[in-house]
Amino acid sequence: MKLLFVGDVVGSPGRRALEELLPALRERHAPDFVVVNGENSAGGLGITPKIARRWLDSEGVDAITLGNHAFKHKEVYEYLDLEERIVRPANYPASNPGRGFTVVASNGMRLGVVNLSGIVFLDAAHEPFSFVDGILSSLRDRTDFLLVDFHAEATSEKVAMGWHLDGRVTACVGTHTHVPTADAHVLPGGTAYITDVGMTGPHGGVIGARRELALERFRTHMPVRLETSDEDVRLNAVLVEAADDGRAVSIEPLIVSVD
Ligand code: FE2
Repeated sequence: MKLLFVGDVVGSPGRRALEELLPALRERHAPDFVVVNGENSAGGLGITPKIARRWLDSEGVDAITLGNHAFKHKEVYEYLDLEERIVRPANYPASNPGRGFTVVASNGMRLGVVNLSGIVFLDAAHEPFSFVDGILSSLRDRTDFLLVDFHAEATSEKVAMGWHLDGRVTACVGTHTHVPTADAHVLPGGTAYITDVGMTGPHGGVIGARRELALERFRTHMPVRLETSDEDVRLNAVLVEAADDGRAVSIEPLIVSVD
């Protein structure tokens, strides 16, 4: 099984990069599943039904994960309830719109996709470590492979989650910081792990925002409105390969520039 996971798509530069680069990535790596974090795809914050539909129905994306901006746009609430291929953090209140995990199928294989939020420097209703255990026991009998997108800020919390899940999921990939880390590896129990996949968007700003505006905010402490940068657009992703028993055999970071 080959899985391509694309890190946080940021604004229209990120969406363009995804659409431009995905066909060649598909041709080159022939992934069975493509999963995209769409947390920042609508103007840098959140996602809209229009964007999600385009990816799922026209671009061949198998599933979309989200994060702390999942509920930024009200228009997406009903869509999150109805569309089974998009997930928001599972450890938010159960009564919130949408679902936190799902199962998608491709080439005769079933992939469980779980979205989780960290609680260090981020807000979530439930502590993610014990929460994910319950999800895994409900998914185990109806999936061949499992992917956890751990949307979290702190590297320590993410590394800890990798160890917590080792041997129980095919891949545990970190998102949210927008900065790719150099620690992609397969843990001893067979779980592919990376602390952060990075972002698909403009790397010439400050985690996606125009750098002069972000700098002004840091310098003045005033509520400067941030805008999405359009400089140095790159796709950040990982390619995970797994054996039939669900264990990962490799994880390879992919960093592709748009030129
Ligand atoms: Fe985020």
